[in-house]
Amino acid sequence: MELIQQGFEVIIADDLSNSSLSVLEGIKKIIGRPVTFVEIDLKDKNRVAKLFKLHPDISGVIHFAASKAVGESILRPLEYYENNIVPLLNLLQEIKKKIVNFPFIFSSSCTVYGQADQLPIDELTPTKKAESPYGNTKQIGEEILYDESIANKCLRVVSLRYFNPIGAHPSNEIGELPFGKPQNLVPFITQTAAGIQKKLSVFGDDYPTTDGTCIRDYIHVVDLAKAHIIGLKRMTVKDQNKNFEVYNLGTGRGNTVLEVIKTFEKISSLSLNYEISTRRKGDIIKAYADTTKANKVLGWKAELSLEEALISAWRWEKKIRKL
Ligand code: WQD
Repeated sequence: MELIQQGFEVIIADDLSNSSLSVLEGIKKIIGRPVTFVEIDLKDKNRVAKLFKLHPDISGVIHFAASKAVGESILRPLEYYENNIVPLLNLLQEIKKKIVNFPFIFSSSCTVYGQADQLPIDELTPTKKAESPYGNTKQIGEEILYDESIANKCLRVVSLRYFNPIGAHPSNEIGELPFGKPQNLVPFITQTAAGIQKKLSVFGDDYPTTDGTCIRDYIHVVDLAKAHIIGLKRMTVKDQNKNFEVYNLGTGRGNTVLEVIKTFEKISSLSLNYEISTRRKGDIIKAYADTTKANKVLGWKAELSLEEALISAWRWEKKIRKL
C-alpha cells in the first residue's frame, strides 16, 4: 500500500499459502485500481527465473515471503528452513544477473538476537543462537545477504529486524488474515473477543517480569511499512557507500502479555476470556528495541501507539466477522 501510494509500480508475488486474494480486493478499493499480482511458489527456481524474464524492469525487491510463527517453527523446522531460505536463494540468483544497483529489503526479525543480554536491543547487540528455527532462518537469511552483498556490489541490502508487527491498515480494507488457529497474540486476542476462539491461553506467567508474562515491542504495521519505503529509497541513492545495513524496527517500548490484554479490554470495553497456561517452547522472555539508528540514519520513528494498533486490529476483526 505505502509503495503504491508513493508512486512505485508494484508486483505482488505470493503463493497464497498463508494469505488470501481478498487482500487484492482491499488494495483495489484503497487505490482505485487493481494491483499486479503473480501467484508463484518462490521455492520453484524455474518459476522465479520466468518471473524475472517476464518483468525485466523489476528494479528492487522487498522480500516478505516467509513462514513466521516462532512456536510453529519448532514443530515444523524443515518446512521453515525450506520456505524461508530457498526462495531467498532463488531471488538472489536472478538478481545476480542484473548489472545495475539493486535494492533488496529483507524482512528480518528481532528473533535473530535470541534472548538478548542487554535491553533495549540495538543493532550492535550480539546475535545469539536463535531460540527457534524461525529465528535461525532469519539469521541465515541475513548471513546469505551479507555474503552476497560482498560478492555482488550491485546488491544493496537493508535488513529490517521487525519486533512484533500488529494492527491493520487505517482504511480497514486490509489486515491480518491468519489461516486456521492464530499463532500470534494479537490475532488470537481479537478472534477470542469476536467469539471465533473460545479462550486465549497466556503462555506462562512465571517469567522474571513485572507481571510474570513475556515482554515484547508491539509495532503498528503501518509504521513498519513506512520504514520499508525509506529503506528502499536509501538503497536507490547513487552515492550509498554501504550495501548491507541492518535496522531494528520497534517502538522502543516493551509491554507484557497481560498489559496487551488489559489495553485491549480498555479499547474494546470487553472482558477477554483468557487463562494462564504453560510456557511455549522457543519463547524469549523480553525483547524491545533501541531504535536510535533507524531514527538517526533513516529519519524513521514509530508514531502509532499500542492502543492505536489494537483499535485498528479490533476494527478489522469486527469487519471481517461482520460484527
Ligand atoms: C507474543 C507473546 C507469547 C500467543 C512474533 C512473530 C515473529 C517475529 C517476532 C517478526 C509471547 C504470547 C502468544 C498466544 C500467548 N516478528 N502468546 N498466547 O513469538 O514474539 O514472534 O514477533 O518477524 O515473526 O511471530 O509473537 O505474538 O506469537 O507472541 O501468551 O496465544 O504472546 O508467549 O510472549 P512472537 P507472538
